[in-house]
Amino acid sequence: MFVRNNWYVGAWSSEVVWGKLLARRILDTPIVFFRDQNNAAAALHDQCCHRGLPLSMGRIEAGAVRCGYHGMKYDRSGLCIEIPGQATIPKKACVKSWPLVEQHGLVWIWCGDTAPECSPPDYPWHGDWLWKGGLFHYEAPQELINDNLLDLSHLGYVHVQTIGGDPNTHMNAEMRTTRGDGSVTVERFMRSVNPPPTHMRLNGYENPVDRWQRIRFIPGLITIYSGSVPAGTLRTEGNQAGGFQQRVFNAITPETAHTSHYFWSVAHEAVPNSPGMTDSLHADTITTFEEDRVVINAQYKRMRETPDKRWIDLGIDAGAIQARRIIRERVAAEQAAPMPSAASAASASAEVS
Ligand code: FES
Ligand SMILES: [Fe+2]
Repeated sequence: MFVRNNWYVGAWSSEVVWGKLLARRILDTPIVFFRDQNNAAAALHDQCCHRGLPLSMGRIEAGAVRCGYHGMKYDRSGLCIEIPGQATIPKKACVKSWPLVEQHGLVWIWCGDTAPECSPPDYPWHGDWLWKGGLFHYEAPQELINDNLLDLSHLGYVHVQTIGGDPNTHMNAEMRTTRGDGSVTVERFMRSVNPPPTHMRLNGYENPVDRWQRIRFIPGLITIYSGSVPAGTLRTEGNQAGGFQQRVFNAITPETAHTSHYFWSVAHEAVPNSPGMTDSLHADTITTFEEDRVVINAQYKRMRETPDKRWIDLGIDAGAIQARRIIRERVAAEQAAPMPSAASAASASAEVS
């Protein structure tokens, strides 16, 4: 179940390299990314219109794609611009192309069949803050990754070595779930608790802290603003002051109904005299996310043994339940009207936390 009229992260900018073809399945559609003659990222259906060979098996020629079987050549719009040994190019000689926007180190792809009516989510922290990212492949659908990120009570059990801490701290956190127009935000506040290992190491805490997490979901993207401040100084509205703060970008792009691409980054404010902080935080985040991946892949493998089973919900699932509802509603709207307005996507995308 995919929302199609939506911006998804298709690739990191650094993955789309001049002169090379990048094959990636997105929403169960094979796509080939490349750079055109102006070095702008482009995306075509990865299937030649002649006899179906993946275009990603061909080659790039001056920003156009040459099929590796009989040599048909396509421009960035998907139009065939050359057929070896044939002067006439049939009108139907073309493949589908998708709109892309490249910003903040990300290549966003509009996966709908209509022209995009909104911009991709802005993410200024890829620029305003120091950051470093990565890409994971999951043997699990988007919903389970969304569940995981929208319910951070699992920190005390899954992430003991990094951002975890006492499980009771997480299970008893104050929680606020707010449904917006096509979005849901979950906020969690933990007061006067022991700082977790990562915060202690990077911020030198010696006393209890107040912790917060603000998690915002729209289809395809979860942003997390989290950290800790000295106990007694927590704010429950707006941004925090001081302490240890980080912003984690989590773009979940469905590959198939059963697998996902997970583009992520962690960003922090520049801290004087802290060389290596970005690398250190990045390394800790990899450790953390690997822990999640092991759990989620194992969870989905076991769930597939009983596909019709109904699972129980807990109080901690409030945000995840809303996220599933948002996806269901968007998919239902798209199926009811083949060319729905993307207005709700536009309003949901306008702001990130
Ligand atoms: S399969 Fe691509 S040109 Fe024939
Ligand atoms: Fe986790």
